[in-house]
Amino acid sequence: MSSDVTVLYDTIRWEEKALIEAGKKRDINVNMVDCKKLALDLEKKPNEYGTVIQRCVSYYRNIHSTAALEGMGVRVINCLNTGILAGNKLFTHMLLKKAGVPTPNATVAFSKEAAMQSLELCGYPRVIKPTVGSWGRLISKLNDRDAAEGIIEGRESMYPIYQIHYLEEFVKRPPRDIRAIMVGDKVVAAIYRNSDHWKTNMALGGVAAKCTVTKELEEMCIKAKNAVHGEIVGVDLMESEERGLLVHEVNNTTEYKNTVRVCDTDIPSLMLEYAAGRN
Ligand SMILES: Nc1ncnc2c1ncn2[C@@H]1O[C@H](COP(=O)(O)OP(=O)(O)OP(=O)(O)O)[C@@H](O)[C@H]1O
Ligand SMILES: [Mg+2]
Repeated sequence: MSSDVTVLYDTIRWEEKALIEAGKKRDINVNMVDCKKLALDLEKKPNEYGTVIQRCVSYYRNIHSTAALEGMGVRVINCLNTGILAGNKLFTHMLLKKAGVPTPNATVAFSKEAAMQSLELCGYPRVIKPTVGSWGRLISKLNDRDAAEGIIEGRESMYPIYQIHYLEEFVKRPPRDIRAIMVGDKVVAAIYRNSDHWKTNMALGGVAAKCTVTKELEEMCIKAKNAVHGEIVGVDLMESEERGLLVHEVNNTTEYKNTVRVCDTDIPSLMLEYAAGRN
């Protein structure tokens, strides 16, 4: 029997378990597929999947399994373009700018020397981020030349993606950022992530609180989502003292456990209904 919705995962987190429960509640036939056990015959379109919700944590597994399924005509949320574009902070930056979405000013440099030169010009502090990555990993605040040299030198001996030096202005803001969860053209819930650490990620100890969704926030999130051709995404924003709301990231496989908890919004049900074409 074919399913209404397939959840393609490589790790079962709270979010994936919640999708199973939501399927039972909403009478939507949900098929759970472990991508690690998957071998796809690329010459034969699988008909049993229904719409696939892509939930793989691994960036490479995520975009390659999406490419294979989508290429054979299976509908995948989010699509391959979103996986590639939202999965890379430089690509996202360029698209947000083009779409007129305010985002932190940034520089990209292609060697240690070029990065150091640009830092001398822009001044400190500056934030260095891997173009591909999440949970705040390998994101550093460069407070001065000595710190920058050490961090950038370390990256020069890593895998080539880490030798793309993506440097953002350090945004002055309250000690929090905003995560807004979008299902289609709607922000279904949003949270502040408060933290004593400058990186406010929940994975690093951030504390969630409900954030009221204003018209300005929603309109900015819709533009950001569309800029990367997304459907179900988590938009991350900061409240800059100088420039107001800025979008710094669009997450294509967003976590939403804490948003469900503090906003009491049934995000997994909304996701499944959207994927099954019921809303
Ligand atoms: N330019 C900046 N200025 C100040 N703080 C920043 C800046 N960029 C990021 N941060 C802080 O660092 C955190 C992590 O940054 P970002 O969201 O870009 O990385 P990530 O690792 O992809 O996170 P996620 O877990 O949300 O996928 C943000 O939530 C924010 O608190
Ligand atoms: Mg983020």
